[in-house]
Amino acid sequence: MECPLLVWMLALNRDVTTAEYDTCYHLVRECAPYANIPYSPTSIESFRKIISQMLPLLMMRHRRISRSKWKHFEANGKHWIEQASDDMPPEKFLQSMIGYHLSYENSLCGMVMTQGRQRQVVNIGLGLKQLAVEPRGVSVPAYVESLAHKLTPLEMSFITPDVGDEVALRRLCIILSLKAAYVNATVPRTGCDLSRIEFNIPNETARIDDHPLQGWEFRVYKAQLGVARTGNVIEESYQCACAFFRGTKESKFIWHDNSKDLEAWVQFINIDQMVKVIPKLTA
Ligand SMILES: *[C@@H]1O[C@H](CO)[C@@H](O)[C@H](O)[C@H]1NC(C)=O
Ligand SMILES: *[C@@H]1O[C@H](CO)[C@@H](O)[C@H](O)[C@H]1NC(C)=O
Repeated sequence: MECPLLVWMLALNRDVTTAEYDTCYHLVRECAPYANIPYSPTSIESFRKIISQMLPLLMMRHRRISRSKWKHFEANGKHWIEQASDDMPPEKFLQSMIGYHLSYENSLCGMVMTQGRQRQVVNIGLGLKQLAVEPRGVSVPAYVESLAHKLTPLEMSFITPDVGDEVALRRLCIILSLKAAYVNATVPRTGCDLSRIEFNIPNETARIDDHPLQGWEFRVYKAQLGVARTGNVIEESYQCACAFFRGTKESKFIWHDNSKDLEAWVQFINIDQMVKVIPKLTA
């Protein structure tokens, strides 16, 4: 069976009040207690973790499955949702497992999910990488150099200074988001040395420790946000990648560069839309 991929992207497009933090915190403590996030209302990192955990709640709500009708499971850092089997025929129940992975970076949180058999749906990952240098103000070549230990010599050869800053930064972020997606789809708990993985972008192939990566589907796309900070709206761009193991013979790369393509499987929401649905998420 073809497991369809769906992604939700949540823009942290403004600051939140302590009251909003509290509401989200209590919701997650009640409906996603397994997340186990300490109360820390002044920490933006804590808020990112909390609101990310609301994405599966929102997704299940959209499927009109009430909170009492599903359970969360986790093994080795991989997460899946089992729905109550109630009146489902056994075969349908086995195909109804929902695997998902949550990720966040700066002002963007995301969830990738799919449905199918348990062992098919858990090898799924989302990688997000903001198109920005860090720390702010360093040159792109210096930024690339600071991340060189996560890249292979072949990958470095795609990001040489002669390609220009914009192209170099985009290529760097594509490779790093793909690596994050792949690692999170395979060994989310332990991670691995990212320089063991190689994405040969021009040839659309990937390797780990010199073995070809077969059977993977990689999707690459961009997200553009407007984030309100002290009265100004700042544009932020993110490179995003999904990795999903389909078990096909070859790995496949899918590049989405227009919003029309994305609409079919990526949904964008912001803080206000999320806050508005909170009362419905406990139901
Ligand atoms: C995903 O993978 C990256 C790279 O190993 C890692 O930094 C990150 O913590 C992982 N988890 C998530 C949720 O992104
Ligand atoms: C891509 O594949 C072609 C044909 O196999 C090969 O000649 C070329 O060197 C490869 N390019 C890279 C960047 O690996």
